[in-house]
Amino acid sequence: MKKQIGFGSLCVQSPEEKRYTNPHQLPIYATSSFAFDSIEQGMDIFLGKQPGHIYSRFGNPTIDVVAEKVAQLEAHDSGLKCSGLLTSSGMSAISTLLLGLLKSGDGILTQGNLYGGTTALFRDVLQPLQINCFTTGLENLNEVESILRKQGNIRLLYYETPANPTLDCFDMAALAELGHKYNCSVVADNTFATPYLQQPLKHGADFVIHSTTKYLNGHGNSTAGAIVGRDKDLMGKAVLPKLKLLGTNCNSWDAWLLHNGLKTLEIRMERHCQNARKLAKWLEKHPEVEKVNYPGLETHPSHPVAKKQMKDFGGMLSFELKGGLEAGKRFMNRLRFCTLTPTLGDVDTLVLHPASMSHVSVPREARLQYGITDGLVRISTGIENIEDIIADVEQAIGSE
Ligand SMILES: Cc1ncc(COP(=O)(O)O)c(C=O)c1O
Repeated sequence: MKKQIGFGSLCVQSPEEKRYTNPHQLPIYATSSFAFDSIEQGMDIFLGKQPGHIYSRFGNPTIDVVAEKVAQLEAHDSGLKCSGLLTSSGMSAISTLLLGLLKSGDGILTQGNLYGGTTALFRDVLQPLQINCFTTGLENLNEVESILRKQGNIRLLYYETPANPTLDCFDMAALAELGHKYNCSVVADNTFATPYLQQPLKHGADFVIHSTTKYLNGHGNSTAGAIVGRDKDLMGKAVLPKLKLLGTNCNSWDAWLLHNGLKTLEIRMERHCQNARKLAKWLEKHPEVEKVNYPGLETHPSHPVAKKQMKDFGGMLSFELKGGLEAGKRFMNRLRFCTLTPTLGDVDTLVLHPASMSHVSVPREARLQYGITDGLVRISTGIENIEDIIADVEQAIGSE
């Protein structure tokens, strides 16, 4: 009888995969590394002479196909052949990309009403590396051009449209044209809109980043990010090496959860938009409401630009009550159906107080300058029945 390997060895050995069936759903590759048939094959894969996986920090079959899917969605119907990478969070997508594109002495031009974490990253991580950040209202294109002309070191134009949490929208095509005129890479954070509502690459952006933690996943059960670039070579030479060295890669489980969420992106976004529009219109008419920020409202200053470049106006809105901060606090504490939580883009309705949560690291003066007031309340409108959302908001605003 042929001698078998020992009991303990049998326990340890990886079983041989049965390859005669095709999984209907994307499998999760829970492996940190990939074995080679020979040293020659390993060398060829390492040197990029033949395709293959090496180590999951560099890429993995589950992660890579989902990254590719996000890139295809951003490039859909554009003829562009983009390349995508998944990262461990939206913040790591931004830091990996910017550390890949910029060097000490370069500058960034952006808006003042960015996601607070991005503002803090530029200030606390990039500035100490002598990568300075200039901010202005990106709706003022003359001002944008004047800063780009005066500050000859600006190499990157970074925008978020609609902006978090004021929902201001900026002209993506005009910004890309200006950025390229002054030799800048143009980077868009498309987290709020998703490629279903707008595709910045079609409007000239060079890169798109996402916190996929939000709408792309949609169910609040994974933290990840994505970088999509229109130039595959540049992604391979400048961005992927930084991701490998910084270790900002996504993991298979979060990539798989993201993929699951992506399947319903279109129908979720349609419902998010429908519900947000109804809620914004309802809030606009409420006697206790001072102001509603929703680009779908014709009264919103960004309505024309949003209409020009978006398919619909998204699920995010923010508003202020007449009683300011006190009324806002009371409102949030009285919510029963909607959830008070610092994220957005999930299927359920989420409420956040930017001044004390997402923008707590932004100094008050800087916040106020860009409309992020103490009493501002942000709502990520979910896909529930709109009557239930409005009923909760109505009882929370109250009448006394
Ligand atoms: C617009 C935007 N970009 C980026 C981020 C950062 O994403 P993450 O929390 O996945 O790191 C957020 C987080 O709220 C965000 O709202």
